Amino acid sequence: MADAAKRAAAEAAADLVQPGDRLGLGTGSTVAELLEVLAERDADVTGVPTSEATAQRCHELGIGLLDPARVDVLDLTIDGADELDHELTATKGGGGALLREKVVASMSRRMVVIATPDKLVDRLADTFPLPVEVVPFAVGPVSRALTELGFDVVVRHGDDGSPVRTDNGNAVVDARFPGGLDDPAVMDVEVTMLPGVVTSGLFVDLVDTAFLGHPDGRVDVVSL
Ligand code: 5RP
Repeated sequence: MADAAKRAAAEAAADLVQPGDRLGLGTGSTVAELLEVLAERDADVTGVPTSEATAQRCHELGIGLLDPARVDVLDLTIDGADELDHELTATKGGGGALLREKVVASMSRRMVVIATPDKLVDRLADTFPLPVEVVPFAVGPVSRALTELGFDVVVRHGDDGSPVRTDNGNAVVDARFPGGLDDPAVMDVEVTMLPGVVTSGLFVDLVDTAFLGHPDGRVDVVSL
């Protein structure tokens, strides 16, 4: 059922795609549905992938890839989110792709989030922790600094027990803020300024529209 909801959101976002578009292609299970839809529609698009996993899936589905070094502007980025508030500030990085996702979003004229309605929250980072990408050398100091800012911090580990490494070779610290963030934009600056932080999973002023899919095929549209 969850897949039907993700599929509905993906279909709605795919309806925005125009022939020849250069897309930002996000990461995660909802974006996996989008890639299927684009392939089924034989969409005439190319895209910058936000992870090795998305690149691999694009290869399998025959979706052409672009090198971000050779693209000035992307027409549209479609990506998932871990949480989204009513101002369309998102948290991302549950799949560890936050850095490339933010780079690609910042290259785009427009960003659409595809998700399910449970991702829409009043206050971010209370339920789902905020992912923070950190250079491995700085995991200890950054974790202590995040704790001083009020976060409950867990260094992300894989199923084999070893610390997770992103596609960029960095660690991920998952930082929950009990009660949720008062001011995500201010916290994004505070977190990003910590030495050793590569980026935070807060996407402020980047998302234009969210499509939230239901299992019965309905899609809620959230725009500012
Ligand atoms: C990966 C992400 C994903 O977009 C986010 O975790 C949502 O994934 P899913 O669509 O599987 O719920 O930010 O870094």
